[in-house]
Amino acid sequence: MRKALNLFSAIFVAKIIALVLVTAAFAGEPVRPLLNNNGLARTPPMGWNSWYAYKCDIDETRIRAIADAMVTSGMKAAGYEYVIIDDCWQVGRDANGTILADPVRFASGIKALADYVHSKGLKFGIYSDAGIATCEGRPGSHGYEYQDARTYASWGVDYLKYDWCNTSTQDRRESYLLMSDALQKSGRPIVFSICEWGSGRPWEWGRASGGNLWRTTGDIWDHWESGPVHWQQGLKAVIDSQADLSAYSGPGGWNDPDMLQAGNGGMNDTEYRTQFSMWAILAAPLIASNNLMTMNDATRTIFTNQEIIAVDQDTLGIQGRRLVKTGNSEIWAKPLSDGSRAFVLLNKAETAQTIVLNWQDVGYVSSARLNVRNLWSHQIEGKFAGTYSAVVPAHGAVMLKIYQ
Ligand code: GLA
Repeated sequence: MRKALNLFSAIFVAKIIALVLVTAAFAGEPVRPLLNNNGLARTPPMGWNSWYAYKCDIDETRIRAIADAMVTSGMKAAGYEYVIIDDCWQVGRDANGTILADPVRFASGIKALADYVHSKGLKFGIYSDAGIATCEGRPGSHGYEYQDARTYASWGVDYLKYDWCNTSTQDRRESYLLMSDALQKSGRPIVFSICEWGSGRPWEWGRASGGNLWRTTGDIWDHWESGPVHWQQGLKAVIDSQADLSAYSGPGGWNDPDMLQAGNGGMNDTEYRTQFSMWAILAAPLIASNNLMTMNDATRTIFTNQEIIAVDQDTLGIQGRRLVKTGNSEIWAKPLSDGSRAFVLLNKAETAQTIVLNWQDVGYVSSARLNVRNLWSHQIEGKFAGTYSAVVPAHGAVMLKIYQ
């Protein structure tokens, strides 16, 4: 009996020590800036955006079909909420300056489309630009901020992505603050998505300029490696560029490393699983941008992995950090509200390698016996003391939840 009691106290003490060490590992985090005051996006936004699947080839039939597919594919049930039309829906302004949708492609009008999306229990998002023209040369909102915000509100828009093309000498913070003020005065709660590509370090001022999320990178390129031109940033480079940004993200204002690429064909499913795992560890917005009508089972399985979505959407809202980097292998960790932590063992090499998660490297006491659950196989791997190791495929990620 005494032996059992001793063992019990030893385990108890080990648990306390492990907890203290885990807390200490994250104690260096600066305090997050004040909350964005529109009260939205308490967890990272989830949804679908038209850009990577269709570029400018969008119309109301297609967007309605996407809204249908959000429901029938199980995306809505998994938590995806916003259907966002990106650039090219707008063609001009009327005599009063009111923005006009393409009368052929959106013949029923944007309000009717938003109503349809709402009828499916989803929310509706739209796109504009802080300059005089969008990146595709459509009318931007510069000089029309309050009028456009009122128009969006009257249409039932729930989310605005606001781009940065054709802004000449405009000031970033002021331009975004102006539109955020316009949105807040429109009387409708509208999530504000800053799309400034990370060039002016928006993580430092995005929240104060009213952003609920801000792009931290240029447009992600649907490839593992980057391309020859500077705007072709592959997944590997995008992941790398997020390593020092965790302190800036949190409830109400999130770092946004751009959209999910699964289903678009430039990478293999291992790489798409890596993107999904990393976006969840980073507490990144989960915005799919593929053709949902023709999505195959592998893609659907990636997007609807509930255990991984739960990591992304965890209410603590802490962006995970890279704790170990040894050559091409990395270990990233994210603390969760139930006291556990999620880990990604990331293999950036061209061949499979064994990655060892050493308790001491990530703030656990080495004698602690901890439960390891694999979030892709949905299996408990068992209880481990000291280390856990896994063979990780080339460009792959093993995603775990570790708890006492
Ligand atoms: C920029 C943005 C993209 C997309 C296009 C549309 O490149 O970063 O996400 O919105 O404009 O033209």
